[in-house]
Amino acid sequence: EKVVLAYSGGLDTTAIIPWLKENFDYDVICVCADCGQGEELDGLEERAISCGASKLYIEDITDEFCDEYIVPCVKAHAVYENKYLLGTSMARPLIAKKLVEIARKEGAVAICHGATGKGNDQIRFELAIKALAPDIKIIAPWRNDKWGLDSREAEIEYCRQHGIHLPFSVDTSYSRDRNLWHISHEGLELEDPANEPNYKHLLVLGNRPEDAPDEAEYVTMTFEKGVPTSVNGKQMKVSDIIRELNRLGAKHGIGIIDIVENRVVGMKSRGVYETPGGTILYEAHQQLEELILDRDTTALKLDMGNKFAQIVYEGKWFTPLREAVQAFVDKTQEYVTGEVKFKLYKGNIIKAGTTSPYSLYNESIASFKTGDLYDHHDAEGFINLFGLSLKVRAMKQEEVKKN
Ligand code: ARG
Ligand code: SIN
Repeated sequence: EKVVLAYSGGLDTTAIIPWLKENFDYDVICVCADCGQGEELDGLEERAISCGASKLYIEDITDEFCDEYIVPCVKAHAVYENKYLLGTSMARPLIAKKLVEIARKEGAVAICHGATGKGNDQIRFELAIKALAPDIKIIAPWRNDKWGLDSREAEIEYCRQHGIHLPFSVDTSYSRDRNLWHISHEGLELEDPANEPNYKHLLVLGNRPEDAPDEAEYVTMTFEKGVPTSVNGKQMKVSDIIRELNRLGAKHGIGIIDIVENRVVGMKSRGVYETPGGTILYEAHQQLEELILDRDTTALKLDMGNKFAQIVYEGKWFTPLREAVQAFVDKTQEYVTGEVKFKLYKGNIIKAGTTSPYSLYNESIASFKTGDLYDHHDAEGFINLFGLSLKVRAMKQEEVKKN
């Protein structure tokens, strides 16, 4: 029987290969999902096979990740607990979808992942697998009684006993997850929220704001129906836009956040995220939306965006609720078309002008000079009715006080 293993080439998922063979006698099919993590994938096949896997699939899912998972989050302005741009959360359901596709193709009976029993990732992988392939068995070694490898040293020793001599080191590093959208860092000094992050050691994608150039840099972007279409006059597909924004954001110290977040399993966890391009993209999209959405839609969309973030964080991607909220958001994006200009300076994104053919901003109405479309006198009657209930209440309170 076959099992499909989500394989990264790291120590954890490498040790899982002999473990699956030894404990379940499975034929192990490895799958490495490339969502733009920028890691060297050469030699990965050889590594997987030399560790006992019978096959390695390398699936490039970067464009699907950008178009079908990132873009809906940008349109929704989905932010978890005010800060986290969901980089890991967005990618998990798509990775799970690929695992299921390959499991079907190979006729595998089980899917295995290396997420721990303490985290969110196990939930995201498994909810997606349950939604797409309810019959497939899920194996999570970290929660399995037969695992027992509770440190890197133990994993290295286990590999050695199984004839795997790879240059894995015991020296601890942060627990990281990287893709085109972001990199997350957890562990080491971050585990105590009293500690300042050791940024010089920690940052992978970009500069700290204080090390960024002293000159601001102007950027222009265009959007069509909420989807980014160009940067600095150059039309590009979304993945290339994110690559270019990552370059610019990294240089200017954009998108480094430090958060104590609430995991789904109940614990608080401290992490630092680098999302340079994503932070710019969210901000630019919102800068444009400000001109276009009416007041009521803006208010409800804020709630729906929050809901969308919750759904994505909790791994409920393949649900009717996610589809329904996404449909609402898509409808709001019909006229989110236009051009945004801003400058990047030491961690900041500063507006430098926004235009749209669908802008609802009317200068003659908004201007402090009087125009003909707006009559100041109309405001008086409006306020009388808008404030009627609170006036009635105040009158009643005075009357009660007197008696
Ligand atoms: N805490 C973040 C989240 O829940 C990041 C998780 C990072 N995952 C990892 N395997 N290192 O989305
Ligand atoms: C893990 O525990 O596997 C990583 C962190 C998380 O999933 O939240």
